[in-house]
Order: sequence, then structure tokens, then C-alpha cells
Amino acid sequence: MTTDVMIQANGLSKRFGPVRALDRVNFEVQRGEVVGFLGPNGAGKSTTMRILTCFLSPSSGSATVHGHDVFDDPLAVRRSIGYLPQRAPLYTDMSVWEYLRFAAQVRGLDDSTFKSRLKKVVEVCGLAQSLNKDIGTLSHGYRQRVGLGQALIHDPPILILDEPTSDLDPNEKAEVIRYIKEIGKDRTILLSTHNLSEVEEACARAIIVSKGRVVADGPLEEIRAKTGSVRYVITLDERGGEAGKSAPKSAEVTGALQKLQGSNAVRELPTDESVLKFEISGAQDGDLRADLFRLAVGQGWTLLELRRDAQSLDAVFRDLTRKDERRDRGYDEPDEDEDEDEDETSDLADDEDDGEDEDGDETSDTADRDEDSDEDSEARSENRKD
Ligand SMILES: Nc1ncnc2c1ncn2[C@@H]1O[C@H](COP(=O)(O)OP(=O)(O)O)[C@@H](O)[C@H]1O
Ligand SMILES: [Mg+2]
Repeated sequence: MTTDVMIQANGLSKRFGPVRALDRVNFEVQRGEVVGFLGPNGAGKSTTMRILTCFLSPSSGSATVHGHDVFDDPLAVRRSIGYLPQRAPLYTDMSVWEYLRFAAQVRGLDDSTFKSRLKKVVEVCGLAQSLNKDIGTLSHGYRQRVGLGQALIHDPPILILDEPTSDLDPNEKAEVIRYIKEIGKDRTILLSTHNLSEVEEACARAIIVSKGRVVADGPLEEIRAKTGSVRYVITLDERGGEAGKSAPKSAEVTGALQKLQGSNAVRELPTDESVLKFEISGAQDGDLRADLFRLAVGQGWTLLELRRDAQSLDAVFRDLTRKDERRDRGYDEPDEDEDEDEDETSDLADDEDDGEDEDGDETSDTADRDEDSDEDSEARSENRKD
């Protein structure tokens, strides 16, 4: 465990009363990786990160960070990581310099180490102009840079960043991602976000969680290929083409596209020009472009555009996590991946965590691992949800 595995989660489960926040989560992060940790709200991203950073104990399972067990050796884990919680705990009446010095003192850095680290942090996080400003006067984007700065001050090999770009405007987001990429050159980073374009920009690999479970884990190309389909977009001139042929009607085009061999789904896309636009989904290993072209020619439609795209990460994400949203809308769907532990009796689980609340007041160093939270009680709590 001393080799290149920097973060390892082994069957992590966590219950908050009846809520099963994590369900046997397994993953590894290797040295030097920048991994995107994706999932809808409530999927369990923050809970996982809090366990990895020793702010929360799991109900069952274990985790190691830099080879140290989060339960047995929390101080060594904390030395190895910089953590930026979802709501960064900044003291708004301190100046940036005071706050970073405070973070350094908490980390046990002496003055001269602080000075040399500060130089580096200021450079990497773009803080030179704001060192003497009060944090309370800074924009969101600059506050997040300060948050990154405190996470980096002790030069940890691993960074755990919980939605560092939420609430930022597009320019600030791009800036923060640029700093994260820079930092990621010589560190291991686990980065949670909703923003898929950020993942595409900063990460080579993603882990997607939904309802406390890992539903995808791998290089982005592999995840994009996960739905096994590709999409085509065609655009037709609404005014018609050849003399003697009528202008295309959307119902007629949709019907013809649906009949095309190899097309699995057809959807008309909105446009604000005098064109008709359709999205066709087909199998990953096929290519419908020639057939689409011939269809258009045969029908006398004027083809303005024809393209074939890999599924976007966005589409895959929605595909993998959609069930939760349907549940929220009241469509009760059986969960086909629900497992063996279905028919247990109900449980009033009591492992609500002390020293921890929704606002990220994370003070508990000493949360005890629940001895009663074995697979059985896990299973019992399963019955209570939904
Ligand atoms: N301290 C807590 N007490 C009770 N429930 C919690 C607590 N923290 C998280 N949860 C629940 O656990 C689930 C996962 O939450 P969280 O890890 O914050 O998700 P994410 O960060 O992916 O949005 C949610 O259903 C959430 O309501
Ligand atoms: Mg969260």
C-alpha cells in the first residue's frame, strides 16, 4: 500500500439514520492522477470526501490515503492531504496573508517554511494582488483561490476539492480550473463537480456516483462509450429543394428516419431558422452517414448539415444517473440493480453523526466507527428509503 495508490476506498458505506448516503463505494486513485468525481446532488460526493479527509467515519468499509488508514492514522492522513470543503471555512475578517499564516500554523509549519511555501502558493493561486486584502472584501472567485491556497500551504501530495467552482461565474470557473490544472501537474487530485466541461478540461478520468454507488469509473473516452451509441445530427432546408418535390415536413422526416435501418431513436431539435434539425442515435460500431445522405437525396431534401458525434459526457451522465431524477418526480421505478438484501425488516438506524452538520461545521476528529453497522443493518436501512 506504499506504492502508487494514493487514495483507496474499500467498500465504503455510510448511513445517516434511514438515509443510505454511500453504498459499498470502491475506487482507487493513483499518484499523479486528476480524477473528476461526478454525480447529481445528494449522490454522496461530499460524504465520500469527508470520510477520506477524516471528518466523518464510515458505517462500514475502510479507506487509505497515502497508505494511511483514515480511521487508524488520521493525523498522517491529514498531513498528506489538502482539503477544500464545499463551503470553504474562511474567516472573512482576516486578510489573505493572515489566513494563510493561520492555516500554516495549524499545520505546524515554522516561519521560514511558511515564507517559502507562501511564495509558491501566491504564485500558483494568483494571490499576489490580494495578500493584504480582507477576505470579506474578495469576490467568490478570489475566495476560492484563497481556499485552494490554504489547501496547498503545507505542500500535500494529495488534494481533495469539493465542488471548488460551484457559485462561480464562467470566468471565475475557468480561472479556478486553470489553477487546478497547474496544481495537478505534480499532485494527485480528487475533484468533485457538476460541471462536465470542467472534467473534460482538467481530468483524464472520472468516477460517476449516483445514489451512493459508483456507476462508472474510467478514462473519459471509456465513459463516453458506455452508452454504446453515437449521435448524428442532420439539418434540412425547410423550404424544400428540387423542383417538383415538396418541402420536408417534420413528421414525414421523423417517420423516414425512424424507418432507417440502424437508427435507434429520433428526436427533432429546436431551431430558430428556416431549417429542420434532427438528432438520430445509432449503434457505436455502425455508421449511418451514407444512408442518411442517400435518404435525403432520394426524398429531394436539401441537406445543409450532417455530422456524427461521440455521445457527450453530459448524455452519458444523464443516462447513468437519470433514475434518481425520475424518482424525485414521483415515478416509482423498481431498481433493477437493487441487491440481495431486499426483505429485511425495518430499522431505526441511529448512527447520526455527532459534530457534523449540513453547514460543514466539521470539527469532529474523533468520530467513532459504528460497530453495529455491518451489512445487515445496511440492508435493513435499504428498506426504508424511497
Ligand atoms: N450530516 C448529514 N445528516 C443527514 N444526512 C446527510 C448528512 N450529510 C449528507 N446527508 C445525506 O446523504 C446523502 C449524500 O449527501 P452528500 O454526500 O452531501 O451528496 P453530494 O455531495 O453528492 O451532493 C444525501 O441524501 C444527503 O441528504
Ligand atoms: Mg456535496
